Amino acid sequence: MIFPVVMAGGTGSRLWPLSRDLMPKQFLKLNGQQTMLQATIGRLEGLDCSAPLVICNEEHRFIAAEQLRQIHQLDHNIILEPVGRNTAPAIALAAFTAVKKAQDPLLLVLAADHVIAQNDYFQTAVRQATVLAEQGLLVTFGIVPVSPETGYGYIRRASKLNEQFSAYKVGQFVEKPKREVAEQYLASGDYYWNSGMFMFRASVYLQQLKQFRPDIYAACELAMGEVNPDLDFIRVNSDAFLACPDDSVDYAVMEKTDAAVVVPLDAGWSDVGSWSSLWDISPKDLQDNVHQGDVLSVNSTGNFVLAETCLVATVGLENTVVVQTKDAVLVAAKDQVQNVKAVVQQLKAAE
Ligand code: GDD
Ligand code: MG
Repeated sequence: MIFPVVMAGGTGSRLWPLSRDLMPKQFLKLNGQQTMLQATIGRLEGLDCSAPLVICNEEHRFIAAEQLRQIHQLDHNIILEPVGRNTAPAIALAAFTAVKKAQDPLLLVLAADHVIAQNDYFQTAVRQATVLAEQGLLVTFGIVPVSPETGYGYIRRASKLNEQFSAYKVGQFVEKPKREVAEQYLASGDYYWNSGMFMFRASVYLQQLKQFRPDIYAACELAMGEVNPDLDFIRVNSDAFLACPDDSVDYAVMEKTDAAVVVPLDAGWSDVGSWSSLWDISPKDLQDNVHQGDVLSVNSTGNFVLAETCLVATVGLENTVVVQTKDAVLVAAKDQVQNVKAVVQQLKAAE
């Protein structure tokens, strides 16, 4: 049985102004009828899974609970973080919780804000990963890279594990390399992007974390020591967790371990990291435009236009992102949308 852990504590600031502190990306319906969190859990249907464990900021507890209720996930568990300390601690809290609920379960760690177009391929990869995680390995899911993205982890494929299926030992894991390095990796053909999903036994993760980041391990152990379960949520000890160092699982464990393997995943994966990546994966009209809401366009091509509360019209506009919400409008060149987070930073600095 798989124990799904859904990390839902990110900020999604590059999708401003739709994604906000109070309603970040993972709780939005960015493509389709379901929110990204709901779609993440829906993707597990048909796999042998226990109820999902969601981990998010306590600010979002009612949003998360309500969204789970809407998809009839009533026996879920939600761990609340008083503050985000990134993914290494988040997974540790989940692993400590999981070992209390089941006997050293296999954790399938998922990001709550990804899109996967072909779910059957995803599930096939998860089934392969299950076999490997049962052997005590840390499984990553590798995406064939198509550009020298610097916001991803890169995984070098080493020897093939066995003839049964395509999985490889990880030769090297490099989180967020510099542009020149990412270009070399891309050109070599030996690297995958890290999808940000993982599978391992709870005890294996905790043991590795204890080895490489005993400070994070100890803070999370303490934070889970005096858990205060209220009716619907698992609340950790605030002071202990506030003292926990901030680090991602990628730097804290994956770059350091020698027990990692990679299962390739060719399933139409996207982490919808920016408005242009949402344009990439969305159906387009004949002029290559993606329109959401009440949008009218004349002689306009290659745009992403979202109108939340009023009609938006474009004339002679090319390769541009326009996002209209009730209190803010973004107009950005489509090839510069990575910098949207600078807008959020400036807004925060001015607060
Ligand atoms: N609960 C919780 N607490 N969740 C968190 C926290 C936290 O403090 N920080 C981030 N998350 C969640 C986010 O919501 C997201 O679902 C996931 O964890 C990954 O965090 P990101 O902040 O989006 O990471 P990233 O995009 O910089 O990098 C990761 O994902 C890439 C692929 O999308 C890494 O794993 C990279 O190696 C990977 O390529
Ligand atoms: Mg991300």
